[in-house]
Order: sequence, then structure tokens, then C-alpha cells
Amino acid sequence: MSKKIIIIGATSGIGEELARQCVNKEYHVGGTGRRLEKLEQLKKELGNYFYYTAMDVTDHAKAKAQLHNLIDEMGGMDIIVLNAGISNYPASSITAMEQKIIDVNVSGFVQMFGEAFQYFRKQGYGQIVGVSSIASLFGSSRAAPYSSSKAFISTYMQAYRQRTNNMKEDITVTDVKPGFVKSEMTEGKKGMFWVGETDKAVKQMLKDIENKKSYSYVTRRWRFVAWLLKLTPNWVLDRL
Ligand SMILES: NC(=O)c1ccc[n+]([C@@H]2O[C@H](COP(=O)([O-])OP(=O)(O)OC[C@H]3O[C@@H](n4cnc5c(N)ncnc54)[C@H](OP(=O)(O)O)[C@@H]3O)[C@@H](O)[C@H]2O)c1
Repeated sequence: MSKKIIIIGATSGIGEELARQCVNKEYHVGGTGRRLEKLEQLKKELGNYFYYTAMDVTDHAKAKAQLHNLIDEMGGMDIIVLNAGISNYPASSITAMEQKIIDVNVSGFVQMFGEAFQYFRKQGYGQIVGVSSIASLFGSSRAAPYSSSKAFISTYMQAYRQRTNNMKEDITVTDVKPGFVKSEMTEGKKGMFWVGETDKAVKQMLKDIENKKSYSYVTRRWRFVAWLLKLTPNWVLDRL
């Protein structure tokens, strides 16, 4: 039977390409994002296998209700991909910008994770995929709230993986750590290297999801960077 996957943040970049590749594999795909017009375009492109609802993960109660409506419409959920994230936000002050990143990447993530976790617990199985980043592995002076928000979600997922390992329910927690990947988020940004093609990164990510991996590094060469970063002493990281 076709798998049912819901992608939170499917309106561009990695999430949009994941929706496309999953439909190509005959998954039933639920896509969300704030931009309804992008979801409508995707529906036209992807057809009957694609379901959607507009959603803002910072509007917690509404987003949870919308998630459950989408699950009902699709007749269930086997996998949820928590992909929604921002690295910048136009705001009147640095504090307001940083708060917004935390609202989306941390609070929005935790709320959706919790809802999916309870759903899978009742169901007895499921997979939660969180899209973190290589940036989770070190504090970045150019992206303090972003890198620390990703560190939060990776640590959070590790803690939940420990929990699920000791539970009777069969719940997998997959931490995806992309390096640089082409998307709206990276468009026009300076100082990037090894920028992966979106379709290649997503193909690798989907393979790891299907193999129920705990960690997924995409594109693959970023596994090497992750390994190097883990070996690098803090006094070196502090000077980056
Ligand atoms: N591209 C990279 O190099 C890279 C590297 C490491 C990690 N990542 C992570 O990968 C994920 C996807 O990013 P991307 O590169 O594909 O960027 P993107 O093209 O900007 O996509 C971000 C997605 O998040 C959704 N989103 C943002 N704010 C939201 C909100 N408040 N409520 C609901 N959805 C929201 C966007 O939808 P709407 O705008 O329609 O709401 C969009 O679908 C992010 O978590 C990002 O941090 C990306």
C-alpha cells in the first residue's frame, strides 16, 4: 500500500522537491506552508496523490488542527517531515528577527513534533523526520539564532530517539542535516561552497528516510564536514 507522508514546509526548495519525488514514487503526500498559491500550483502539477493545507507553524493551535484535518483527508499518516524553517526575517530589530527564527525553527518545530509523536504513539508506529542542518554542529557568528535553533532540534530529536528506543511503539526519529543546498533560502547568499543540487540532496534524503536512518547528511560530502567539525576543538571553532 502507498505510504502517506506529510511535509511541513512543502512550498519551495527541499520540501517542494521532496513532495515531487514522493509523488513520483506513488506516496500519498500532504504538503503545507503559508503560501496557498504555491500549494495550489503543486496540486496542479502533482494531481491526485497530493493533498494540501495552508499553515503557519507559529499559529500553534490552528496548525495542529490543520495537521489533523490533513491526516483525516489523507486517511492516515506514516511519516511526517518537519522541514519548515527560516534563516532570516525582515524585522525592526535584531532581537525581533532572532525571536522570529526561534518561533518558527524551535517553537513551531516542537509543537508539530509533539502532535505527530502523540499521533504515532496511538497508532503504534510512525516516523518523524526533522530537517536540521550542518550548522547545528557549531555556533556561527553570521547566523547565531539559526545555528543554535538547529542545534536545539538535533538535540531534541536525539533525546526523543532515546525515548522511542525504550518504547513498545515502533517510532523512528530521523535527523536530516543538509549542507548548502539550492533553495529560496540560499538564493543569492555569498560565501557558500559545495552547494548541492536540490534534486540530488532530496534523493539522498528520501533514501535515508526509507531506510529509517537516524541521521542523514545531504549531499553526502557534508558527512565529511560534520565529522571534521565534531573533531575540531572549541578553541578553534571559537575563532572561525
Ligand atoms: N538550503 C540549505 O542550504 C539548507 C541547509 C541546511 C538546512 N536547511 C533547512 O532545510 C529546510 C528547508 O529549507 P529550504 O532550503 O528548502 O528553504 P526554503 O526554500 O526557504 O523553504 C522553507 C520552507 O519552510 C516553510 N516555512 C517557513 N516559515 C514557515 C512558517 N511560519 N509556517 C509554515 N511553514 C513555513 C516555507 O513555506 P512558506 O514560506 O510558504 O510558509 C517553505 O516551504 C529548512 O528547515 C532549512 O533550515 C536548508
